[in-house]
Amino acid sequence: MSEADPLEGLSARTRSVIERSREYLIPGRVETWLKLGIPLVIGRREGYAIFDLDGHRLLDLHLNGGTYNLGHRHPELVAVLRDALDELDVGNHHFPSEARADLAEALAAKTPGELHDCVLVPSGSEANDLAIRAARHATGRRKIVSLDAGYHGATGLSSAAGKDSNAKLFRSDYPAEFVTVPFDDLGAMEKALADRDVAAVMLETIPATYGFPVPSDGYLPGVKALCEASGTLFVADEVQTGLGRTGHLWAIEAWNVEPDVLVTGKGLSGGLYPISAVVMTRAVGSFLREQGWAYVSTFGGSELGCRVALRALELSSRPETLANARAIAKHLAAGLATLRERHPFLRGVRQKGLVMGLELEGALGAVRLSRALYRRGVWAMFAGFDTSVLQWKPGLLVDVAYCDDLLERLESALGDVEREGPA
Ligand SMILES: Cc1ncc(COP(=O)(O)O)c(C=O)c1O
Repeated sequence: MSEADPLEGLSARTRSVIERSREYLIPGRVETWLKLGIPLVIGRREGYAIFDLDGHRLLDLHLNGGTYNLGHRHPELVAVLRDALDELDVGNHHFPSEARADLAEALAAKTPGELHDCVLVPSGSEANDLAIRAARHATGRRKIVSLDAGYHGATGLSSAAGKDSNAKLFRSDYPAEFVTVPFDDLGAMEKALADRDVAAVMLETIPATYGFPVPSDGYLPGVKALCEASGTLFVADEVQTGLGRTGHLWAIEAWNVEPDVLVTGKGLSGGLYPISAVVMTRAVGSFLREQGWAYVSTFGGSELGCRVALRALELSSRPETLANARAIAKHLAAGLATLRERHPFLRGVRQKGLVMGLELEGALGAVRLSRALYRRGVWAMFAGFDTSVLQWKPGLLVDVAYCDDLLERLESALGDVEREGPA
């Protein structure tokens, strides 16, 4: 594969997929991948490995943000979906449903504190969009405060919160109503809430697209206290950090904070059927009692997805799953510490359980390492809002042998980048 022709050496089938995707679907994205020398078209996938269409195996350290926390096509989840297909379809959202009731009850039981009311939607973006609307209804206020390096989705309201990367492009930014503050800065948060006119603070517990910087110990409890003092709701976006990734079922539990709203998605789908959820206190969910049809979604809480999600939630909360996540996190921490001593390109490691970010040399350090890893049989992606950090997201069920193979490949890739010299 040469820099000059990134399609060189690829099969006709792979070239055709890339060309048709460039023609009809994602032209800008295809150009970027080709420029980076990553002409990946995913074919077969199993466990924590993906294969490109030409059969090259890659360890999947991206997992699409945790969608594949439990691995690709986990056999139990595939079986649950197959069984559900014998009996169910998406269902009719106007009526009560057993599959939806089972999932909502389990979510209420497994989320912290007073969280109780549940709305099921197809995506994390829609979940955050609804969380914003519910918070506005419950408080009678419009303002939303989030991090200037946060990402909450791609719908109108969810994209207006957090880093304004695409909201402006689509003229759907509302700067008077969506205020941002810097990460880990309690003083800035205090100022933003001072006028007591903010409906909700919406935070990723550990901001993913910013490269998983771990907040200082007092930050999240401090934000919660400020919210309580100013009549503001606390929305925990756990789309990437939830479902066991930190070794706790929800990352926010590591800081003993009870949010007013918890949003989950990605891994809840088991990687098989799109589904996300908003779990709220009864006070925040009051609109559900006031107006039965206040929020409707034909595909929200598809019964097929509910069956998969119920099992994904159960698998993610098993004590042995959480114990494995913690043990693997420890093993990887030790391995990465050794690599750090040997490779100056690896400047630091951010970590809370299996939520990890590798801090690398240079503003594009993670883009360079991403490509080097790709050539060494690992797919790991740079953080979109900070390309000096590589997101490092091993699956919850990986074993020590997998991690040792991974660390060896990482060491080779670090050597490759160091031999290339400065960017
Ligand atoms: C933290 C966070 N929240 C929300 C979303 C949006 O989820 P979805 O892509 O399912 O709409 C994402 C997606 O990457 C995310 O990382």
